[in-house]
Amino acid sequence: MFKPSLARSAFRVINPVSRPAVLATSSRRLISVTAARSSKDDSNNNNNNNNNKSSLSPHPNSPEHEGQFARTDESVIIEYPPDHEMPRTPVVQGRGGMHFKRTLAQFSLENKVSLVTGGARGLGLVMAQALVASGSDIAIVDLNKEEAQDQAKKLVDQFKKENPGLEDMPNVTAHYADVSNPDSVNEAIAEILEKHGKIDNLVTSAGFTENFDAISYPYDRMKKLWGVNVDGTYLFATAVAKHLMERKAPGSIVMIGSMSGAIVNVPQPQAPYNAAKAAVRHLAASLAVEWAANDIRVNCISPGYMLTALTRKILDENPDLKNKWTSLIPVGKMGTPEDLMGAVTFLLSDASKYITGADLRVDGGYTVT
Ligand SMILES: NC(=O)c1ccc[n+]([C@@H]2O[C@H](COP(=O)([O-])OP(=O)(O)OC[C@H]3O[C@@H](n4cnc5c(N)ncnc54)[C@H](O)[C@@H]3O)[C@@H](O)[C@H]2O)c1
Repeated sequence: MFKPSLARSAFRVINPVSRPAVLATSSRRLISVTAARSSKDDSNNNNNNNNNKSSLSPHPNSPEHEGQFARTDESVIIEYPPDHEMPRTPVVQGRGGMHFKRTLAQFSLENKVSLVTGGARGLGLVMAQALVASGSDIAIVDLNKEEAQDQAKKLVDQFKKENPGLEDMPNVTAHYADVSNPDSVNEAIAEILEKHGKIDNLVTSAGFTENFDAISYPYDRMKKLWGVNVDGTYLFATAVAKHLMERKAPGSIVMIGSMSGAIVNVPQPQAPYNAAKAAVRHLAASLAVEWAANDIRVNCISPGYMLTALTRKILDENPDLKNKWTSLIPVGKMGTPEDLMGAVTFLLSDASKYITGADLRVDGGYTVT
């Protein structure tokens, strides 16, 4: 089974100058390399530190600025915090609830059951909250069932608070699954059908990122990364589509990809994650075509850099990395999980009835520059 402690993403930059060499051989998942160096520095360092490989100065006679902001930098070290330091995602207050402003009825998810993988935390949890506010019942699926249970209760409590007097409360349930394991996926689907009777919509948000330079990437880690991000998406999509086909019911699936599936992030190296998210994007398009005749729509949301509780904690401690990222975003700031609430509701609802196979970028314009 996939260990939660290895499935958590966080971002940490360790100053290459002050980083003790011993870290490179610790059990932490590291990438190495110094920041932009001159070719002269490279030749000096080559004898001293073979771990300091860099893609920053490939041509010995190039001026230092050439390609400076468009290369990966192995000195950027991204690691997962230990379990006890993992920040929890607060439920959205104030912005997520129902309101009495007029809006199109097509956006409603009333009488629907939506399954959200990776819904115990981060983007998945906030998207689940959007679906609850839009009228859907929810099955949260996560490796961390305890957190999923706790958050399921909080979602209903928050809904009650924001909608006093409403008698019809959403049914929000929590379920364990390791999305990369077919048996575990099937067991979760059976449990959800027992509790809810049906599944109409799916959001696949379980996923994680990891940073090693490609040459150093441990093969078993790479397989696990693809197992969760790609196999996990595929297994849940096919299981839900099979159920919809048996019911002869329409459905909508939203796969959470990433802008990394369309561009190459800098400075942190993450080739397998980028390739995995490109696979998710094209899986959505391919399944959209395969299942179009069954009235099952499949779309992808590709978020840019989002400030979850986890990334916020890490970036607060590493303002340099945050500055690098935001300098590359046309709107000038990172997104928030709430920025996905409208996008996911739109793609699951009848408001997007004629949209399938699309990739909706929610990235502040990152990928258009
Ligand atoms: N946060 C961002 O900036 C960002 C940007 C683009 C894309 N994404 C993508 O959005 C998705 C959610 O990211 P997040 O930032 O909310 O991450 P997160 O780590 O906060 O939440 C991921 C959730 O998935 C669960 N999970 C992990 N492995 C699992 C497994 N094998 N089976 C079941 N559940 C599992 C975790 O327990 C966790 O609750 C991921 O697919 C990620 O790649 C995130």
